[in-house]
Amino acid sequence: MTKWMMIFAVVMGAGAALAQTAQIPDFSDRAKKGQALFLTNCSVCHGDTALGTDSGPPLIHFFYRPGHHDDNAIRSAVKNGVEAHHWEYGDMPPVTGISDAERTSLVAFIRELQRANGIK
Ligand code: HEC
Repeated sequence: MTKWMMIFAVVMGAGAALAQTAQIPDFSDRAKKGQALFLTNCSVCHGDTALGTDSGPPLIHFFYRPGHHDDNAIRSAVKNGVEAHHWEYGDMPPVTGISDAERTSLVAFIRELQRANGIK
C-alpha cells in the first residue's frame, strides 16, 4: 500500500466509526426498565445506546461479551465501580442508589442491546 492509500484508509475508518449507530431491539419489559435506569445513571459516560462517549467506553463491544464479562461482572461494576483496566478513560465510580432488582434490569438492557448488535 502506498502512503496515500494508507492515509485514505485511516480517514475512511475514522468516518465509519463516527457514523456508527446501534441497532435497537424490541426490548423486553425488564430491559425497558433497565433502559430508563441506564439513561439516568450510565449514559453520561457510556452513551444513550452504550456506544461510548469521551468519558466511558462502549459496552457494545467484544470485550464485554457474556463469555468474558458475565452478568455478575456488570452487577459488580455498578455496585463497586471498576478500576480502569481495559481503556484509558479512568476508573468507573460505583453508582449508588441502585437496588439489586434494578441491577438485574440493567443487565437485561445491556445484554439485549449487545445481542441485537452481534455481541453474543
Ligand atoms: C463517570 C463515568 C461512568 C458512569 C456514570 C458509568 N460508567 Fe461504566 N465504566 C466507566 C469506565 C471509564 C469504564 C471502563 C474501565 C476500564 O478501563 O476497564 C466502565 C466500565 C463499565 C463496565 C465494564 C466492567 C468491567 O468489569 O470491565 C460495565 C459493565 C459498566 N461500566 C456498566 C455501567 C453501568 C450499567 C452504569 C450505570 C449504572 C455505568 N457503567 C456508569 C465509566 C462510567
